[in-house]
Amino acid sequence: FGRWLHLFETTVSTQEEAMRLAKQGAPEGSLVLAEEQTGGRGRQGRKFFSPSGKGIWMSVILRPQQPLQYMPQLTLLAGVAVCRAVRRVTDVEAVIKWPNDLLVDGRKICGILLESAVEDQRVRYCIAGIGIDVNLDADDYPEELKHVATSLKEAAGTPIDRTALIAAVMEELEDLYTLYRQEGFKPIGVSWEALSATVGRQVSVRDNGQAVEGTAEGLDASGALLVRRTDGSLVTVFSGDIQINS
Ligand code: BTN
Repeated sequence: FGRWLHLFETTVSTQEEAMRLAKQGAPEGSLVLAEEQTGGRGRQGRKFFSPSGKGIWMSVILRPQQPLQYMPQLTLLAGVAVCRAVRRVTDVEAVIKWPNDLLVDGRKICGILLESAVEDQRVRYCIAGIGIDVNLDADDYPEELKHVATSLKEAAGTPIDRTALIAAVMEELEDLYTLYRQEGFKPIGVSWEALSATVGRQVSVRDNGQAVEGTAEGLDASGALLVRRTDGSLVTVFSGDIQINS
């Protein structure tokens, strides 16, 4: 991974650049990096704040050759990879909020977005987009993000070496992806649960407009979140936004 590197000073979104390169045949593990994104994309059509020189805005091309229903597993895999890399390179004990935001003290330091191109029910390629708030200062954030986001620098109290962190993310990603191909999702799911801030907590989720409240019990074999309602019923949540209540 990372042997092919495409570096941009500024671009709309590294996801778009990676999609274009993947379509042209770029190999698995190719990395697209930008100092700044003018139209960074988040999950569910949201914008992702990506100011110049302060973060890691990266997209990695994967060619998993799997049906589309396995994609949530790769999303969780990417979360585990970044969480491990952050813990390895910094002293910051980041945790994962389902499906794959990274939090420090309840505030977001990283978002992950997986997008895939499908043909004949199979994934032709998939782009793992990772945005890490590395060296942003508190006053870099626009008002609406001030209380919900933070950076590794703020959390660690010292600037973080972006290059070392990128290298660690690529290493962890490659290791976990290799393990996933050999042994399937099981070991990835176990690691995810160990780093998760969600399992065992009271949560509310909206999945396809349906509100679910209960205790997050863990992941099922597909990577979906299992939530136990107070009436004892078990609900499988495939996607959506989660709120951790207690
Ligand atoms: C989210 O938190 O909703 C996901 C955010 C993903 C952001 C990354 S930054 C690099 C890549 N390029 C994008 O436009 N988005 C992803």
